[in-house]
This record gives sequence, C-alpha cells and structure tokens, in this order.
Amino acid sequence: MFGFVKPLLKYRIACMLIIIAVVAKLYQKDLLQLIQKTAGSYLDTTVRSEEHAESVAVEFNADPRGVLFTPAQLATYNGEKVGGDIYLALLGAVFDVSRGLKHYGPGCSYNYFAGRDASVSFVSGQFEHYDPETADDVLSLQPNNLIELDKWRQFYETEYKYVGRVIGRFYDETGKSTVYHQKYLALLEQAQLAKAQIDELRNRYPGCNIEWSEARGTRVWCTTTSGDGQLRDWTGYPRKLYNRDKKNFHCACVPEAELNDPIFKSYDNCAPLALECFYRV
Ligand code: HEM
Repeated sequence: MFGFVKPLLKYRIACMLIIIAVVAKLYQKDLLQLIQKTAGSYLDTTVRSEEHAESVAVEFNADPRGVLFTPAQLATYNGEKVGGDIYLALLGAVFDVSRGLKHYGPGCSYNYFAGRDASVSFVSGQFEHYDPETADDVLSLQPNNLIELDKWRQFYETEYKYVGRVIGRFYDETGKSTVYHQKYLALLEQAQLAKAQIDELRNRYPGCNIEWSEARGTRVWCTTTSGDGQLRDWTGYPRKLYNRDKKNFHCACVPEAELNDPIFKSYDNCAPLALECFYRV
C-alpha cells in the first residue's frame, strides 16, 4: 500500500530539506522575531556584564587622588565637544565644572578656564592670551593673592566635583605633590599667619575716623566708636600702622599706655598726644 514511499526514501535528505524550507517560509516572521529576541537578550547580557566589569575596574583603581591628566588630556575637556564634560584645574587640582556650563561653556565669560590650569587668572582677572608657561605660575603672586586663590580652591571643592590632578607644576607623573607645590603651601601658610596677625592688630587697635578736604588734606582722629562702630571705654590716639608691605599704612587708635610700641609710627607734624592729625599724600 505504501509502495510509493520506497522510492522517496532514496531521496529522504532532499525531502527533509524541502519540508524544512516550506515550514521555514510559512513561519518566517515568527522565526525572525525569535532570532531577534534571543540575540537582543544576548547583547543585553553582554553589555550589562561589560558595564559591570568596567565599574569593578574603577572600584579596583579607586584612588582618592582621582584621575591623573596630562595637560593635553585636560585640554580635551574644554567644552567644545557637544555634550562633553567640562573640567578646569586650579593649583593642579581638576574639577568637573560641567554643571556650570553657563559660565564655562564655549563663548561664556569664564570659558578661558575650561580644559586648563589658569590659576593666575583667578587673581589677575586676565582672561585672554593664555600662556601655558605662566598661567599656573603662582609663586610670584602677592601674599593676599595666594589667600584669594585658596578661597577659590575652597569654592571649587564645595561647589563642584573633584576629578583628579594634572601633571605639571603641582603634581608629578605619579600624582605626587611637587616641591613647587610644597613651596606654594608654605607661602600660603605664611600669608595666612601674617593676615591673622594683621586682623588681630586691627581688632585690638580699631581704625580712626577719616575725612578729606582740599583745604586741609586728610584728617584722622579717634572716638569711642571709631573703627568697628562698637562702643569702647577708651578713645586712643591716631597712629600709623603699616601693612606687611611696609609701604601702605592705615590709621589705628592706640591707647596711651601702648604709644611707645615700635609697630606704631607718629604722623609728621602732629604732637604725640594730639587728638587729630592732618597729612597729605
Ligand atoms: C579676577 C576677576 C574675576 C574672576 C577670576 C571671576 C571668576 C568667576 C568665576 C570662575 C565665576 C563662575 C563661578 C561658578 O562656577 O559658579 C564667576 C561668576 C560670576 N562673576 Fe566673576 N570673576 C571676576 C570678576 C568679576 C567681575 C568684575 C564681575 C562683575 C562686574 C563678575 C561677575 C560675575 C557674575 C555676575 C557671576 C555669576 C554668578 C552666578 O551666576 O552665580 N566677576 N566669576
């Protein structure tokens, strides 16, 4: 009865292929979906496991000092890459300032700082003609400028994310603080100490009242509220108290018992116990 099957057995492989082809054609759409789904989930798994591997690598390399940049690498974070991060360096420390796009983005007021260490400009206010040789050379700055720079450092540490260090004046190729950096820190400490002393002197010896007229020049005199506006129980005598630069001075009210302290200088043509003095600059 099934005698016609016998010759077909001879071509069974060919028959099977024909059947598979017919079935494949009938279920072509479903098969395609199945393949895509399997491939998709395979890719997802691969990407996820790669992401995981990356985050594990970062954790392993986690260094509180962050990423070490060459100046050229840092320069790529200058905001010119659309949607790219913006970094700036201050005293060799790199901060992610992408959040401040309106300040640091291309064409914005402070774009000059993006992708580089231009520490000096934070106190000079010079935002043109970038010169890599001098832009972060801070050792010749005045002590008050060093203090100002330190305030900028505190600002970036508070407002933005610290990313790492740039190889150069402040950090070497291993990320270690350089001798230059140590010198800067020592000068900063000196400047801060000197400022604290001046502040202390200003507290102890309040400023004088001061007025100017064309006829008499500058007039200085003390009252019980001169200087800080706080009432005190002594008036004091006007004396010159010089700044650290020894060139500029301000008028301080000094109690009689301390008038001989050499840090105070008398005004020219003014009697030792005069209540007011006049001078012209
Ligand atoms: C040495 C000079 C100066 C430096 C180094 C400097 C630096 C900066 C920097 C870095 C920022 C961005 C701060 C941030 O990331 O939030 C900023 C913001 C700003 N600066 Fe200056 N600046 C200087 C002088 C001036 C002057 C003279 C003015 C005004 C005439 C001024 C007005 C502003 C204003 C309005 C903002 C935006 C504040 C805000 O939106 O939060 N700056 N400055």
